[in-house]
Amino acid sequence: MDQIKKADKGEIKIGNDVFVPLLTEEVIQNRIKELGKQITEEYKGKAPIFIGVLNGSFMFLSDLLKNITIDCEIDFFKLSSYGDEKLSSGNVTLLKELNCDVNDRHIIIVEDIVDSGLSIKFIEGMFQKSKPSSMKVITLLFKPNSLKYNVKIDYIGFEIPSKFVIGYGLDYAQKYRNLTNIYVLSEEQ
Ligand code: IMP
Ligand code: MG
Repeated sequence: MDQIKKADKGEIKIGNDVFVPLLTEEVIQNRIKELGKQITEEYKGKAPIFIGVLNGSFMFLSDLLKNITIDCEIDFFKLSSYGDEKLSSGNVTLLKELNCDVNDRHIIIVEDIVDSGLSIKFIEGMFQKSKPSSMKVITLLFKPNSLKYNVKIDYIGFEIPSKFVIGYGLDYAQKYRNLTNIYVLSEEQ
């Protein structure tokens, strides 16, 4: 198994890949505070349900919720996505269903990252038969130049380049989700 090796300038080396810091914990947490404040204001009296997309969104959802000061609920579903690769397989399947009733409720889908938009498109389809009062999407990271599907993202933490990132919930072959900063794959190797 590849171990994380700390290199110079906060870089980390995983096998032959070098990842460099993109967003520090402090920068991430400050932005999440702003998003939490904004959503708290906009959802007063609405008791929204935050619906996390597993596995990647677990850290973001947890920190976001600490900054929501109105009544709210959470639930999760799980989608398959990248497998063990750095590129999407192009297929999405539902691995764990939602357990709550979303009818007549305000729901906020919480994603770690929107890349091609395929997962969000799939999620929109899932809710077509149910009748939430409203549905919005929040993502911590957005790769605008990778978007291939026409989807509406309501809240964005950071727009980032179309490069592979890890940390803060985001994995490479299921690992490195536990890193508190976000790192991007370096091209100079
Ligand atoms: P999309 O369906 O192409 O928008 O991709 C969405 C999903 O792919 C995200 O929820 C992530 O799980 C995964 N993903 C996309 N880009 C990255 C990345 O740079 N690193 C790790 N996972 C990613
Ligand atoms: Mg995801």
